[in-house]
Amino acid sequence: MTADAATDRLTLEEQASLTSGSTTWNTTPVRDVVLALTLSDGPHGIRRQKDVPGDPLGIQGSRPATCFPPAVTLGSSWDPALAVRVGAAIAREASALGIDVVLGPGVNIKRSPLCGRNFEYFSEDPHISGVMGAAIVEGIQSLGVGACVKHFAVNNQETDRMRVSADVDEQTLREIYLPAFEHIVREAKPYAVMCSYNRVNGVHASQHRRLLTEVLREEWGFDGLVMSDWGAVNDRVAALAAGLDLEMPPTGTDDQIVTAVREGRLDPTVVSTAAGRLLTLRDRVDRAARFEDWDVDAHHELAREAARSSAVLLKNDGGLLPLDPTARQHVVVIGEFARTLRFQGGGSSHVEPTRTDSPLDALREAVGPDTEVAFAPGFTLDGERDPALVSEAVALAARADVALVFLGLPEAAETEGLDRTHIGLPAAQLDLLREVAGTCARVAVVLANGGVVSVSEWEEHAQAVLEGWLPGQAGGAALADLLLGRHSPSGRLTETIPHRLEDVPSHLYFPGADGHVVHGEGRYVGYRHYDTLDRPVAYPFGHGLTYTTFAYSDLTAEQTGDNRWTVEVTLTNTGNRYAHEVAQLYVAHDEARPTRPRHELRGFAKIGLEPGASARARFELTGRDLAQWSTGRNRRRISPGAFTVEVGASSRDIRLRTVLTTPGDGRGHDLTAMSTLGEWLDHPVGGPAVRQALEQASVPIELAQTNPELLVLARGVPLLKLCGLVPELTPETVERLAAHLAEEGAQHARPS
Ligand code: GLC
Repeated sequence: MTADAATDRLTLEEQASLTSGSTTWNTTPVRDVVLALTLSDGPHGIRRQKDVPGDPLGIQGSRPATCFPPAVTLGSSWDPALAVRVGAAIAREASALGIDVVLGPGVNIKRSPLCGRNFEYFSEDPHISGVMGAAIVEGIQSLGVGACVKHFAVNNQETDRMRVSADVDEQTLREIYLPAFEHIVREAKPYAVMCSYNRVNGVHASQHRRLLTEVLREEWGFDGLVMSDWGAVNDRVAALAAGLDLEMPPTGTDDQIVTAVREGRLDPTVVSTAAGRLLTLRDRVDRAARFEDWDVDAHHELAREAARSSAVLLKNDGGLLPLDPTARQHVVVIGEFARTLRFQGGGSSHVEPTRTDSPLDALREAVGPDTEVAFAPGFTLDGERDPALVSEAVALAARADVALVFLGLPEAAETEGLDRTHIGLPAAQLDLLREVAGTCARVAVVLANGGVVSVSEWEEHAQAVLEGWLPGQAGGAALADLLLGRHSPSGRLTETIPHRLEDVPSHLYFPGADGHVVHGEGRYVGYRHYDTLDRPVAYPFGHGLTYTTFAYSDLTAEQTGDNRWTVEVTLTNTGNRYAHEVAQLYVAHDEARPTRPRHELRGFAKIGLEPGASARARFELTGRDLAQWSTGRNRRRISPGAFTVEVGASSRDIRLRTVLTTPGDGRGHDLTAMSTLGEWLDHPVGGPAVRQALEQASVPIELAQTNPELLVLARGVPLLKLCGLVPELTPETVERLAAHLAEEGAQHARPS
């Protein structure tokens, strides 16, 4: 039965019941027309609540499932194919646990490192957020389980999240906060989208018609269901009318919908449409094969591979890493995080793992008989200073050839509902590191944290730093794989590590106050700020070392159509170990006075190469990659002119460049009667036209050019206003000029 036919069989009351859940995790069943759907977090593992009474918020225990690395980690793999496989594994477990829709991925932008849920998000950059988020959706839905991309939109902090208005200009919205959602909707076609708690420019996301209907559906073609975040609806009728189809969890207010229809305040088709979308979602997931179980060991190994592929080697002076597991050596492992694996964040994404392996156990199992591994916790997870623990660790370090120091943030520091107030590691841990470094000459630090931590104040005490992020339940084995060289690190930063919190572009505006958070930094989020202003950072976006080196050569760019190019570059492994390189492509605009971010990530390719081997990395560029949002025109626009294609190993390690030109999008020459004389004179088509008009109006333009002050003044005057100064130049002439250009431009309109 089609959704439309089923909807027609429903009474208004039944239709209204489908627009809200029946329990914390279920939609509403109706007779023999539709069964309840079961929803569950996500995003990096299934949190299938045990059916326990008295847990309205659904935050009690859940049934065991594989805890894969959260998005902060998986995003750092820069490997969409891996993300597809993780998504499919999550879907397999969802199916076995009776879940129809997984509430994830989360793709909000990391505007500030302080956001408590940054561990659940991919990046400061919308391109990689969109590509990795789409891959997760593709993986989840490859088994017919639904994915629900979240939180739409501009949910970039936890502080006051249910009330705060994210005040953001349209250009920033379109270039930073919406593109990841747009890419996922257009490319991966998620079955559902979850609106966020916050307001956007004063209007709650749950009743933001422009976002939920005009942008999401009418512009992007989304044909799935929009559900609320849990408790995000403030006005049932307004939400439904704006395009929110499902309130979760239920608030027992379906009668408000029926009454509003009966009183003529709500169009009944709005209700039937929302009910139909619920039925369509049911129909889509009903096509899924059902699984009873999954291979627990295989999924654990996949979690291990994902964590291994995502850790970022920040520094490795003197090639301290990898350690040789067969060498005769004393290794001291220091830090409670080596014994107690820190592998995920707090809140709704918290998964009950099927098992965990600690770095200490994994290291001990992996080293040979000639390597002695000692351990000292060094600190307690409550952050208190404990001199005895420090002394114990220092004593072992004094006898060691190398110290592996596991530092990081306690889970309480990074959770839903809370933002951090600083980005430092606990002082007790830094004290320990300094003491250890004072007695052991070779120190490698391994980090466990979901949000970026500052490293500048302590990294001098370590020859190597491996950022392990939150590695999921198999993190211990994954880190051992990298520390002992069974695999080379291949993660890259998807978020800049600043020297100081004060250097972060949003610092003056985050988290806002008095119900508003102004996005004063605009589009200049992350590397878009640091690289445009050439500000120093501790480690740049895209950075990551490995156990070999790579060369870039033979950059080519070929135009393949209207505003379409194919860019290729050769990568060569110039070292002596198999490893992966992540070649990154940025589109750059070198302007004396910046009018847009200096460069933006527009493509990446992760390629594994044996020593001495080479391969071509290939990227496709389109006009959209060059465009910026024109607030004045309320659309994306490609300006004619030159742009630079940069290819490199990070946003600050550009290896090769080439310059290309675009004729622009040809959608009207954008000159109007109110464009200034200067804009007309500088325009390739408008210039000759206005000179001719001025000459016919016997205005000796050369006169102005012999009088620089006069010309400077004249150039800044809108053409229509010049008519008052130059009688021979009539408004009719000016309007005719503008109309002619607009008409001519329309003739050459090109798809952008
Ligand atoms: C939470 C989160 C959301 C989650 C939902 C259900 O408040 O914001 O990400 O999916 O509620 O737990």
